[in-house]
Amino acid sequence: MIRKLKLLLIIAGMMVSFAHAQKSIGTETDAQKQKRMEWWTDSRFGMFIHFGLYSGAARHEWVKHNEHMSNEQYQKYFDQFNPDYFDPTKWAKEAKAAGMKYVVMTTKHHEGFCLFDSKYTDYKVTNTKVKRDLVREYVNAVRAQGLKVGFYYSLLDWHHPDYTMDNCHPLVQVDTSKANYDRLNKGRDMAKYREYMRNQITELLTNYGKIDVLWLDWSWDKKDQKSGHGKGAKDWGSVELLKLVRKLQPGIIVNNRLDLNEYKDGADFETPEQVSTAELAKYKGKTWETCQTFSGSWGYYRDENTWKTHRQLLDLLITSVSNGGNLILNVGPTGRGEFDYRATRALDSLAYWTHANGSAIYNCTSAPDAYKAPENTKLTYNKAINRLYVHLYTYPVDGKLILPGYKNKVKYAQFLNDHSELLYKPSEANADDLVVTLPVKKPGYEIPVVELTLQ
Ligand code: GLC
Repeated sequence: MIRKLKLLLIIAGMMVSFAHAQKSIGTETDAQKQKRMEWWTDSRFGMFIHFGLYSGAARHEWVKHNEHMSNEQYQKYFDQFNPDYFDPTKWAKEAKAAGMKYVVMTTKHHEGFCLFDSKYTDYKVTNTKVKRDLVREYVNAVRAQGLKVGFYYSLLDWHHPDYTMDNCHPLVQVDTSKANYDRLNKGRDMAKYREYMRNQITELLTNYGKIDVLWLDWSWDKKDQKSGHGKGAKDWGSVELLKLVRKLQPGIIVNNRLDLNEYKDGADFETPEQVSTAELAKYKGKTWETCQTFSGSWGYYRDENTWKTHRQLLDLLITSVSNGGNLILNVGPTGRGEFDYRATRALDSLAYWTHANGSAIYNCTSAPDAYKAPENTKLTYNKAINRLYVHLYTYPVDGKLILPGYKNKVKYAQFLNDHSELLYKPSEANADDLVVTLPVKKPGYEIPVVELTLQ
């Protein structure tokens, strides 16, 4: 009887663990994955670049969709394309100075235009006035600055003749009836488009040396995928595509927009897009990168004026790291191929801050639970050197920083920006707390950082 019961329990246990086991595509272990991802998690801060024909329209990279343009109507941007100031070395230097460690650039966005010399289309940069492969120049420039190289590649394609209709396609925005879908889909064949993507991904991951990140974009409307209104894993052939990517570049890091959530290894990191800093706390414990714009649009948008302030950008960076994630911040170069003055200004101010305070970002993550964030601060932590970073969001007017419950936990305290010592002592009000004495004058940084060497 007891043996029977035991057997039943074992079988039940096996069933439970089986139900919990996620499917996987490859054979990589967790430890191997962690090793592969190490440079990326240590980097914490990257630059996104959205550049394409839409940069000339200067009113959002979705302009073709927003204004329901046909290929013919959109052709003027191809004919006009001539970024005379395109200089990726300058971009890479600005990224590096701002403290970014990797760059991801659009090789093809939803508009379908390729910034690289693909054998499989005429809709490419080498057929414009430019006549050069701009992806190649980008790769060389970024690599030469010692930064990691990433490619963004759009799964959507609003130019390809085999790409079928869905609720994002520019051509179905006015008449969304089934009859119109059927009419527009006549002669289109997603199988051929899937092959086109595989061919282009093969070109991108074969002809440009080692590529560090692949950012595939995107899948949507799971419930509408059947009706053809959304698109996901089946439409892209995601499993096969990911296998191909891993075969061509075994070390590459791939984002999570292939719609492979049911697989344990269907993605390397999550991509919360344009979320608030408050929402980032939800991602603690996961591997993630929040992608954010300076203003509302990814492609250059001349008349968009809601640019984030220096403080907001710093908050994004600090909050990302304090929740164990990365920030990738986007620049949309102008039609001339230059960073807009507003972007340059924002990058310069980040350069000033990261130069002085970058040690509180790189190789850092969220603080151990034993450390409570003092009032009006956020914490980051470098495990390897056992240092805690207190980011002072509001500079204490009374010159006192209370470290709650930090008694016997601190060995040394200093400002990070100039390594000037900060004296501290046990609090008279609460024996478990420490009080750090700060100078009356706030250091010249929007958010100064106190570095605590822990016991
Ligand atoms: C979105 C948009 C796109 C942008 C991307 C960046 O999915 O479609 O325009 O490139 O996110 O995260």
